[in-house]
Amino acid sequence: MTAQQNMVRIYDRVMKSSKQRRYYGGSGFYNFGYWATGAASQREASEALVDTLLARLPGKGGAILDVACGLGASTRHLLLSYPPQAVTAINISAAQVATARQNAPGATVLQMDAVKLDFADESFDAVICVEAAFHFDTRAAFLAEAHRVLKPGGALVLSDILFRRLFASGVSDRLGVPKANLVADIPSYKAQFGALGFTDIAVEDATDQCLGGFRRSLVAWPGSEYRKGAMSFTTSLASAAVCRLIAGYFGAVSKSYLLVSARKP
Ligand SMILES: C[S@@+](CC[C@H](N)C(=O)[O-])C[C@H]1O[C@@H](n2cnc3c(N)ncnc32)[C@H](O)[C@@H]1O
Repeated sequence: MTAQQNMVRIYDRVMKSSKQRRYYGGSGFYNFGYWATGAASQREASEALVDTLLARLPGKGGAILDVACGLGASTRHLLLSYPPQAVTAINISAAQVATARQNAPGATVLQMDAVKLDFADESFDAVICVEAAFHFDTRAAFLAEAHRVLKPGGALVLSDILFRRLFASGVSDRLGVPKANLVADIPSYKAQFGALGFTDIAVEDATDQCLGGFRRSLVAWPGSEYRKGAMSFTTSLASAAVCRLIAGYFGAVSKSYLLVSARKP
């Protein structure tokens, strides 16, 4: 099994787990979220992440492509701003695509690899990619494809993670992050967009607003479930240990969480 197949298998399994679904409030999201706008739950933070990326588009309207749509929660959220015929979403996992079709009725949801977009040149006014580009083999290949399928004047918005090189082999193996994506720093990351012809490139370091908020929320979650009577004392104790481990792991391996926008001239 390749590292990519393993990563997809893990996502397919974890996204279906009952604990995960409860933590995300049954929303189908699977991202760290954006907490700076006062989100009271992971679901709200995940919705806010899509909103904060959409706010970075020069304008709404036209056709939008949601790359690596997961279970279709981001796609469903796009339907609040775009008519269904304007929304296309892709994911590499057949199982996630099947759920995304249910979660985002009316949108076109296709199984596809982000580095081989099966669309004609200049098909979309906007491309959004929430917390997934670090997995693509490679991120640079995806950026080239995004540039190709965007219309002139169109924009790409994404949230992305820079991982620590120190953890290179662990991150690559466990999280399915190709080594080519372990970019050294934000200037090198930003340079990739310029080299492909993007302009108006903005890269904001939102590590505390996204990863930090997620880690705080995850660690607090079992206790709040217990206080609500939604989790027994022993389950909440066991969950607290697991949540601390997950929060600690992501804190250790991640260097920066980025909010990015760029335009095709
Ligand atoms: C952290 S999840 C984010 C899902 C969704 N965007 C969200 O915010 O809820 C990463 C997603 O990337 C998808 N993915 C990974 N590699 C991919 C690729 N090469 N092409 C398309 N999707 C991919 C995974 O299947 C998974 O759904």
